[in-house]
Amino acid sequence: MKTVFKDKNIVLGVCGGIAAYKSVELLRLIQKAGANIKVIMTKNAQAFVGPLTFRALSGQPVCADLFEENDDASIRHIDWAEEADAVVIAPATANVIAKMANGIADDALSTFILAVTAPVLVCPSMNTHMYENRAVQRNIDALESDGYNIIEPGTGELACGISGAGRLPEPKFIFDRLVSSLLPNDFNGKKILVSAGPTQESIDPVRYISNPSSGKMGYAIARAAEHRGAEVTLISGPSNLADPLNVKVIRVISASEMAEAVFDKIDNSDIIIKTAAVSDYRPKEVAEHKIKKNKDEMVISLEKNTDILKEIGKRKGNRILIGFAAETQDLNENAQKKLDAKNLDIIVGNIVGDPSSGFGTDTNKVTFFHKDGKKESLPEMEKDEVAHALLDRISMAS
Ligand code: PMT
Repeated sequence: MKTVFKDKNIVLGVCGGIAAYKSVELLRLIQKAGANIKVIMTKNAQAFVGPLTFRALSGQPVCADLFEENDDASIRHIDWAEEADAVVIAPATANVIAKMANGIADDALSTFILAVTAPVLVCPSMNTHMYENRAVQRNIDALESDGYNIIEPGTGELACGISGAGRLPEPKFIFDRLVSSLLPNDFNGKKILVSAGPTQESIDPVRYISNPSSGKMGYAIARAAEHRGAEVTLISGPSNLADPLNVKVIRVISASEMAEAVFDKIDNSDIIIKTAAVSDYRPKEVAEHKIKKNKDEMVISLEKNTDILKEIGKRKGNRILIGFAAETQDLNENAQKKLDAKNLDIIVGNIVGDPSSGFGTDTNKVTFFHKDGKKESLPEMEKDEVAHALLDRISMAS
């Protein structure tokens, strides 16, 4: 995430609604991700949260008045509009939405917005009846057709006591949409299937064979692809990770469940990325009850699971097919063999068992082996960055 926000200038516009307190948390998320963030507040917003709060947290002056004096004599709202890489208006009140829809510039925020050329995310938040009012809906439609990015409000109990649409979405959801607005939309219209995590092969009702995959690598790919405009389905083995936002997640346990879920989606996928660490074998027999420890030695017979990726390779058509190779030795030779045997476009090789790459880590050190024989070794990177580097290669090839 750090690379997405590196050297980026984000402006947060805060309007006068009870949800203004949530913008403080949003500011923290954006700041933590490494962006420079500045805040513009309407006069009414200042009745809910003081400018000093935003000033102290952002470490930047807050623009709260169109005609305020400032240190460097710049026209703050125009300078900020020029510098901005993205703008978030959260909460966006009916009043500010109406001004934006009609090009009215009568305070610092509305004047600033007219001068912005970067993507603007608008997060309406108000009483349900106000939100559903035809004039408000008309204004929201106008903003959408003017190219503003509208984040639909959530539904639930509102501060005014009634229940319905109008809640400001959680800051982490707004943050996720902000990330997307800063990335290219190069997978728009593409359907991407990603598999992630381990599989578990039951021995008896309380024991299984598995591996240490956490799902981090596959979830990072699913998230990055969604941020870049793809319609993403993630088929995940058991993982503690939360579902990536806006991604259809199908949770499975065993390799045969994963195979069934993946095969069901092949026809509906343009790109398939198999990051999952699938068990190659499963116990031939699964005991109905917990096995007792009354023998000194025990032998479990295993039988082979279907090689899901190899099967997809046979039905590849003109889909793009990516595999991963988890190796402890001879990465080049083993990855190359899998690339050929499974009919892949790219195989991502990684050495597992290293403290900074492979299973469970936040970083990975990968080598891309392309079907034309090209090989690229990348330095250690966050898994999010590896995901984007892989998508960059796929984007170039498609
Ligand atoms: O989840 P993390 O903790 O973030 O860890 C990430 C990772 C190390 C699991 C990931 O980067 C990785 O290497 N995934 C592939 C693990 C693996 O099973 O590699 P393999 O070399 O055994 O399999 C090669 C390819 O065939 C893989 O794409 C695998 O999904 C696929 N396969 C394997 C066996 C099988 N029965 N069916 C398959 O589809």
